[in-house]
Amino acid sequence: MEIAGRPRGPVAIPAVVLDLAAGRDVEAVWRNNLDGITFEIAGRAGLHHVFVKVAATGDDVDLADEARRLGWARSFTPVPEVLDSGRDDEFQWLVTRAVAGTSAVAERWIADPAPAVRAIGEGLRALHDRLPVEACPFDWSIESRVRRAAAKGIHVPESLLEAPPPDDHPVVCHGDACAPNTLLDEDGRFTAHVDLGSLGVADRWADLAVASWSLEWNYGPGWDDLMLDAYGIEPDPARIHFYRRLWDAT
Ligand SMILES: Nc1ncnc2c1ncn2[C@@H]1O[C@H](COP(=O)(O)OP(=O)(O)O)[C@@H](O)[C@H]1O
Ligand SMILES: [Mg+2]
Repeated sequence: MEIAGRPRGPVAIPAVVLDLAAGRDVEAVWRNNLDGITFEIAGRAGLHHVFVKVAATGDDVDLADEARRLGWARSFTPVPEVLDSGRDDEFQWLVTRAVAGTSAVAERWIADPAPAVRAIGEGLRALHDRLPVEACPFDWSIESRVRRAAAKGIHVPESLLEAPPPDDHPVVCHGDACAPNTLLDEDGRFTAHVDLGSLGVADRWADLAVASWSLEWNYGPGWDDLMLDAYGIEPDPARIHFYRRLWDAT
């Protein structure tokens, strides 16, 4: 879950971002819960309008993983085009070309959540329908998540893993289907997904459990059913419970 948002107060702009901006204004638009920051740089005369996500090189995230997943998903569904990614001793960065739309947690949707909630459900359904499971080189299964957590020194309690629910329907999951990662147009229609660093094959409830949970964090309680209805599925309390606990534990 992203306990995150627009940075308050001044933000130091890394040299890699200033170089890229080449004199253009730079705006810090998002800080995530690992202190990674996304900057927006407006387009100008031959220079693309871009977003640059920056994280410390030592952080528990690998932006090169995200670059690979974005590159793969782009032929099937709207996600940003990667223009550059790299790392030095201090920072890692991911430069993507701006896609149409603004985040589903923009102020106007916080004030009027219903259209955004529907669009999140429809957008997730489109993603799951479009990305081909057989051809997907990335894994987000329960086992792979437990393994990755262990590599970061996080131990998932055995009690949680004793009787995982059988798969309902394997799809290529977004991997971080929280509300801020769906972009919407002016009319509240889904336009694109961002933040695909964990994309991979898993049961669809791995995404649905977290997407519906994040509605509560961003819009308040009571929006789950509308989102699941827009996705086109009945609530599955046992799988929702399991995948929320797994999310928390990893
Ligand atoms: N290429 C892009 N086009 C439009 N908006 C973007 C793009 N990349 C990032 N954003 C915006 O920046 C925010 C943060 O990017 P994201 O990749 O989700 O970072 P984080 O991993 O910190 O959540 C997104 O929620 C979205 O609003
Ligand atoms: Mg995000």
